[in-house]
Amino acid sequence: MRQETPVHFDEQRETWDVFRYEDVERVLKDHDTFTANRAFEADESSNDGDDSDDGLPMLQTMITTDPPTQTRLRGFVDERFQPGAIREYQPQVAEVTETLLDDLEDESCFDFVDEFAIPFPVIVIAELLGIPADRRDQFKEWSDALVARPEDDTPEEMKRVQREQEEAQRAMGRYFAELLEERDGGDGDDLITLAANAEELSRGEQIGFCMLLLLAGNITTTNLLTNAIWSVEEHGLTDAIRTEDVDHTQAIEETLRYRSPIQSLKRIAVEDVELHGQRIQAGDVLTLWLGAANRDPEIFDTPDEFRPERRPNRHMAFGTGVHFCLGAHLARMEADVALDHLFDRFDRLDADLSGLEPLSALYGLESLPCEMS
Ligand code: HEM
Repeated sequence: MRQETPVHFDEQRETWDVFRYEDVERVLKDHDTFTANRAFEADESSNDGDDSDDGLPMLQTMITTDPPTQTRLRGFVDERFQPGAIREYQPQVAEVTETLLDDLEDESCFDFVDEFAIPFPVIVIAELLGIPADRRDQFKEWSDALVARPEDDTPEEMKRVQREQEEAQRAMGRYFAELLEERDGGDGDDLITLAANAEELSRGEQIGFCMLLLLAGNITTTNLLTNAIWSVEEHGLTDAIRTEDVDHTQAIEETLRYRSPIQSLKRIAVEDVELHGQRIQAGDVLTLWLGAANRDPEIFDTPDEFRPERRPNRHMAFGTGVHFCLGAHLARMEADVALDHLFDRFDRLDADLSGLEPLSALYGLESLPCEMS
């Protein structure tokens, strides 16, 4: 597809599929022509945090807006996610890792996804937001519900999961509203206080920011950790990582490229435009395949091989342009600390790679059974 029809209209899904690195990069960098606002025709003023028809708050966030709105919604927090600021959280993240690993120590067999990769980023973000310790369990329940997957594809099951997600979203939204109210004017250094004091944001936008961190940061980090263990085991590199013959930071970068946790992004053309010889019309939807771009042979040698030593590794797993992932440095640091401690603590970590069920849109695994000692 990438070679033969690099920009291709899929009639059934009514979207342009874009596969080549250069085309994906061009669309992501040209936010004037390709909007991230899925309802770009709607009146912006109606999206200010008021309740929508179904009672769910309409949460305007940086990820679904374009500059200058996106710049306003991101500006207050950008600095807190820069490498220097993120390094300060490292001891906290190490402590979370150790606590989770302590719980695993008595088990010889465990599911890496359920018992480590899912709870880990949820606890980290709860700490950064400043969720009080006595509400952590409730917070985890909501977070789990937000990313719950249907057990089968019957309409009833799909509806049940959607209903539970909406309930969790409402409950969490109300809870964030309470905390924002309490912390307004406070001097704590948690992210909820930072948001509460951001005068350029409405309360609805502050709630939207808190929810976005959970939605954008948890399942993606879960999948990065899982895909890293999966890829390292699959390529027989576990021992080389433990002995540091292979640098685990580079293995994480290569996992981001080789098994990108977010496989695709959407944009909408706001005017007629040509892309790789195809005439895209205003209002057309584009699906930008990060997973395919990250294996484009024009950019990467032997793209289908997992090679941690690859340099440079200009993958786009965190996107590019104005929406470049806010949490990229945090996700990298979390994965770095987690892998470092995991391999340090256990001499053997055998992941069972038989019968794995890869998930597609958000690329990861349903479960990854491991044995360790
Ligand atoms: C944006 C990937 C972790 C917060 C994005 C985008 C990608 C991405 C591809 C661009 C979306 C677009 O252009 O439409 C990932 C991956 C992660 C990860 C692969 C983990 C491996 C995190 C974490 C957080 C986070 C840990 C925060 C706690 C965000 C936010 C945005 C974003 C707020 C929106 C930025 C904006 O629109 O300006 N992420 N992300 N992400 N990510 Fe991440």
